[in-house]
Amino acid sequence: MSCTFVIFGASGDLTRRKLIPALYRLYQQKRLPENTRVVGCSRTPYDDQAWRDYLAESVEKLAGTPVGDDWADFAASVHYLPFDIKTIDDYQKLSDQLDEWERSGDGSGQPSTRVYYLSTSPTLYKTAVANLGKAGLAEEANGQRRIVIEKPFGTDLQSSRELNDVVHSVFDEKQVYRIDHYLGKETVQNLLVLRFANSIFEPVWNRNYVDHVQITVAEEVTIGRRGGYYDRAGVLRDMFQNHLLQLLMITAMEAPAKYEAELVRDEKVKVLQAVRPMIGADFAQDTLRGQYDGYLQEEDVPSDSQTATFAALKLQIDNWRWQGVPFYLRSGKAMSCRTTQLVVQFRKPPHMLFNPGQQHEANRLVIQIQPAEGIQLQFQTKVPDAEMRMRMTDLDFRFDREYSGSPPNSYQRLLLDAAAGDASLFARSDEVELAWGIIDPILEAWESPAAPPLDIYPAQQWGPLSCNEWLQRQGREWFDVCPVLH
Ligand code: BG6
Repeated sequence: MSCTFVIFGASGDLTRRKLIPALYRLYQQKRLPENTRVVGCSRTPYDDQAWRDYLAESVEKLAGTPVGDDWADFAASVHYLPFDIKTIDDYQKLSDQLDEWERSGDGSGQPSTRVYYLSTSPTLYKTAVANLGKAGLAEEANGQRRIVIEKPFGTDLQSSRELNDVVHSVFDEKQVYRIDHYLGKETVQNLLVLRFANSIFEPVWNRNYVDHVQITVAEEVTIGRRGGYYDRAGVLRDMFQNHLLQLLMITAMEAPAKYEAELVRDEKVKVLQAVRPMIGADFAQDTLRGQYDGYLQEEDVPSDSQTATFAALKLQIDNWRWQGVPFYLRSGKAMSCRTTQLVVQFRKPPHMLFNPGQQHEANRLVIQIQPAEGIQLQFQTKVPDAEMRMRMTDLDFRFDREYSGSPPNSYQRLLLDAAAGDASLFARSDEVELAWGIIDPILEAWESPAAPPLDIYPAQQWGPLSCNEWLQRQGREWFDVCPVLH
């Protein structure tokens, strides 16, 4: 059985930075399906050899992956077709070429899997999908046909519905793989293992023991040269609708009956269904927005832009497990450091025997998604020889101490899963639409008089100061440690 990855928009950054390095590494590890072929399609007029040379150079330079003696072997299965997404004839030529390769390929005449990867400008997704349909490329008479769609999946609820409609007019939902690269991160998958393969966390993972949860995705980088895209997207579309809500779902979901794509995604969807819709004054009370100082001077950013580069949200989940436990989500560019962390803040003991007049911190479980991937459990211990004085101490687990080898990048895992037909780590259509259903009203409120002020924050801090005050008013504090594991 052979497998072909067809990358549309192949001359873009994603292909050389992420997709080809991931495929090359999988090839080196002998994890790709037998007779795997990679076909790049885009407008730049390369021939096979020119494209291979360009990729070899990019893989070394951009992805930091040294190209070894085996590159030539790998590259022999990498092809290029000059291709215009809007021209139906090009799809016909692609179809004929794929048929020919597959016939001559392993000579087995066995059905062949094709993974179409949309890495074009999102404005071309609908055209590409419709043309794949017209050229019969979605038909599964001679093997599986899957489509991988990069983010952003729409820019709001309506556009994501429209895109889903077009996708579903050509592909069955089970053929569709919507990428969120956060789900390809080992530490995000480990969250499922932590919760559902251990018996000591689940009993306390609920409103009886948890005071609140913090999900922080802080980035030290600014928007760089992505001003054109970023100014239209802003932090809610760029990070919350996808990555932060994915982290929320995995933290809050119930255990599925089996680890199977539909069952896992059913449980995730239930979390989004339970998120309490914000109305009226909620938007000003439960959302915060900021912009880093210097954003207006970035390339391609209008000098009066109101785009938020930082946001914090307080979400409530109306179900039995989480009633009354706020989930605080925040993310921003130009922050103190790069850290993605999830903090489960437990309640204080109901009655304090020791030093009762003093303030004591309660237990915390910190899941460090990146960098310094690991977990820290914080608990009180008795300071030796100091009566009953206590101090917060911790138990640390770090992936790099426990396991050798560098963790795979997200795309390695996700490309393999798409080839194998496992959609557990991909977003389903209802999941994406529900996520937009949470983000859209906030975006709308931010355009209206109900908008919270856009606070300007100095770069290299934890966002606007008002964000700390906001949480303090609720009797809580952000866990601003960067990163928690050393
Ligand atoms: C992308 C966003 O989806 O995720 C970027 O468009 C962001 O703005 C990136 O920088 C963050 O990903 P990671 O894996 O570096 O946390």
